[in-house]
Amino acid sequence: MTPDGKYELTDVEFKEMSEDDAVRVFAEDGYFKYSKRTQRYSKLPSDGIFASSPSTHFVLFEKTTGKPLGVVGYSQYKNILLGAGIHAREDMRGKGIASLLANKLMQEKGSKLMVVSFAKEQAKNMYMRRGFKEVDLSKLPPEVVEELKTAEAKGNETLSKMLMLIDNWWGVLRGN
Ligand SMILES: CC(C)(COP(=O)(O)OP(=O)(O)OC[C@H]1O[C@@H](n2cnc3c(N)ncnc32)[C@H](O)[C@@H]1OP(=O)(O)O)[C@@H](O)C(=O)NCCC(=O)NCCS
Repeated sequence: MTPDGKYELTDVEFKEMSEDDAVRVFAEDGYFKYSKRTQRYSKLPSDGIFASSPSTHFVLFEKTTGKPLGVVGYSQYKNILLGAGIHAREDMRGKGIASLLANKLMQEKGSKLMVVSFAKEQAKNMYMRRGFKEVDLSKLPPEVVEELKTAEAKGNETLSKMLMLIDNWWGVLRGN
């Protein structure tokens, strides 16, 4: 841990798993506040592309205890990746868990285009600091844009403004 109580990479390990397994490992540890996209999404359609595309998740475990601390994931649709959520365990927030998860997501996505929509300013800022930019909707498949517009019409007025993407990880490295 850092002197100010944040987790470091040496304190944790990642395991790659399906969304069902990610939900299960938290539930088995008595934590029920992380749920599947189909249950969690209220603005994006719960049976839509963002909610249902096949996904990969990375669960972060505390090495010493084996406790699941957080999870991040992405799904794949056509030639793009879609963010499938970032979640830090509620009683463990502010300890750098989401930072480690966001770094992992950046590594795993490689050079692929990824679209992430945000419900929280803190999460948006975290991704922007890692090089995400506001999306050019014309680069996305129209059915993805349609889904985002549906979500926007349901009342998430900031969604389209907050939609970010990055299509060149190496560009981010150079930008740092
Ligand atoms: C949003 C969430 C993932 C943050 O998790 P966390 O482990 O508490 O976050 P961290 O301690 O790693 O901090 C994350 C980032 O926010 C920054 N941060 C921390 N406290 C902050 C604050 N009070 N205000 C603004 N930024 C803050 C950190 O500097 C860090 O950014 P950096 O890695 O670029 O330096 C967590 O609150 C959560 O799981 N919420 C529920 C699910 C959710 O809302 N997910 C996002 C949906 S868009």
